[in-house]
Amino acid sequence: MSLSSNAFEDNQVQRAWWKEASVYQIYPSSFKDSNGDGFGDLGGVIEKLDYIKTLGVDIIWLCPIYQSPQVDMGYDISNYKEIDARYGTMDDVDDLIAGLHARGLKFLMDLVVNHTSDQHEWFQQSRSSKDNTYRDWYIWRDPKYDSQGNRQPPNNWSSYFGGSAWEYDSASNQYYLHLFDKTQPDLNWECEEMRSAVYETVRWWLNKGVDGFRLDVINLISKDQSFPDATVLDANQLYHHGCEHYANGPRIHEYLQELGGILDSYNAFSVGEMPWVSDPEEILKVVGYDRKELNMIFNFDIVDMDHGASGKFSPKDWQMSDLKSIVSKWQTFMYGNGGWNALYLENHDQPRTVSRWASDSAEHRTLAAKMFATFLGLQSGTVFLYQGQELGMSNIPEHWEMSEFRDLETLNHWDELCEIRPDDKDLQVITKQQYHIKSRDNARTPMQWNSDNHAGFTTGDPWFRVNDTYDICNAASQVGVPGSPFEYWRAILALRKQMLDIFVYGDFNIIDAEHEDIFAYTRTFKGHTVLVACNFRQHDVDWKLPTDMKLDELLISNYAGAEIDEGIVRMRAFEAFAYIQKDHASLSRL
Ligand code: GLC
Repeated sequence: MSLSSNAFEDNQVQRAWWKEASVYQIYPSSFKDSNGDGFGDLGGVIEKLDYIKTLGVDIIWLCPIYQSPQVDMGYDISNYKEIDARYGTMDDVDDLIAGLHARGLKFLMDLVVNHTSDQHEWFQQSRSSKDNTYRDWYIWRDPKYDSQGNRQPPNNWSSYFGGSAWEYDSASNQYYLHLFDKTQPDLNWECEEMRSAVYETVRWWLNKGVDGFRLDVINLISKDQSFPDATVLDANQLYHHGCEHYANGPRIHEYLQELGGILDSYNAFSVGEMPWVSDPEEILKVVGYDRKELNMIFNFDIVDMDHGASGKFSPKDWQMSDLKSIVSKWQTFMYGNGGWNALYLENHDQPRTVSRWASDSAEHRTLAAKMFATFLGLQSGTVFLYQGQELGMSNIPEHWEMSEFRDLETLNHWDELCEIRPDDKDLQVITKQQYHIKSRDNARTPMQWNSDNHAGFTTGDPWFRVNDTYDICNAASQVGVPGSPFEYWRAILALRKQMLDIFVYGDFNIIDAEHEDIFAYTRTFKGHTVLVACNFRQHDVDWKLPTDMKLDELLISNYAGAEIDEGIVRMRAFEAFAYIQKDHASLSRL
């Protein structure tokens, strides 16, 4: 095993402020309610700025707060330059920006420009007639007719939220494309005026003081203009996943260069959501340092690891070997090729990690949360933490009924299943279990601030039920309390800053790649090495320390420190640690 194995032995990675930063994601509806209406709002975010600062992040990313009918929780925007009354006013945004900047924090808005709401003025105009100047701002196509003369959608693509991706408009006898809900029509990026309007919006927000954007499903904006049918993988389905025709489609890099040029001229931060693309060369075209498209992207390889053959809500056991090869692939590829990783395990679309991949039992939840903090937080890339992750929040409890769920994706899936397979009770039971593991709602329950009524989230009626765990898992019982997940995350983020060269700019090597229980890696900078090891199991695992590794100086651990006897480390349930190798470095020199 070699410790400094790659081409970047001299650690010539380009330095940049956005590489050194960590991001805290806020789901505004569920963060903090300041006016008692049951929905989180901007006033609530402002109230909690000191909490966020204490954690040690540098940037907040706020999920969409624009005017919206809220069919998809704000990812259906009806006006890019107005704030939804649910969240507050433009004055609140100004106050938020001022409050953030006063604390040295930066602000990312969520830019949703693959689609708008069908309530957006642009779409209202577009659908009003075929001759309207906005007609071409969306994607309209004529129907197809089958051999019986029945009208059919232009192709067989499915929507991610169920059914066909095309909605019929009887007034014009055409269909419009919506990759998501039918109330979220896709914008036509082929149309130059539309693109100019998007770019103008981006500038408008940057001029207002926003420091960058998270760009929603940005790799879907360029579609193959012949709109070919998707490959049929499951003949029992009516509609099919057409991503091969629009994920990183034909003109994606042209559009991203246009957008990236604007962002670069403001030195703005950019992270693009990029599902269904895993080809490193293709992704490098987006995140290559000199290409000036985007700084980094959210790749889905890890979070899709447990999606089964029939999609997200079908079961699949993930293997440690899968996780190791994914992490190793991206860590080394980006490092060696001038790209950059966005590190994440949770967000508003993903469930809680402790429940999904470890244990949320009273005995293990806290340990597991800290193990994942070590695993993720010491890798190479920009760290993204989702609200509540710093507390080790867990999925919604198994006894919650379907009537408690709120998420469009889950509810549409359930309705479709009950309609198509009404008598298949076994499948229904299995699918419900899968919702409890993977539904987006797991991450969307209100933030648990304290053990008061409704977890201190609101004084009113919360829009979404508070997780039953709030009395044992909340911020008040963790901030300033040694050993809590919050304090552990804080220490991890501080360590990244304190040892920037190693943890931000150091290279990555996986250790003991075949081991089924222990995830171990090193970070090395100019010969200085840190060993990180994580036990992913809830039982003891005896791990043979690689012969060229030593446990010299403990940097961080979720136990008091490792137990080692004759070269064997007894890794306890979900134990994680990082040790600096004395032979390789002295901490003070870094
Ligand atoms: C992204 C968002 C998700 C939303 C979808 C459609 O995946 O993260 O929440 O539903 O895009 O905008």
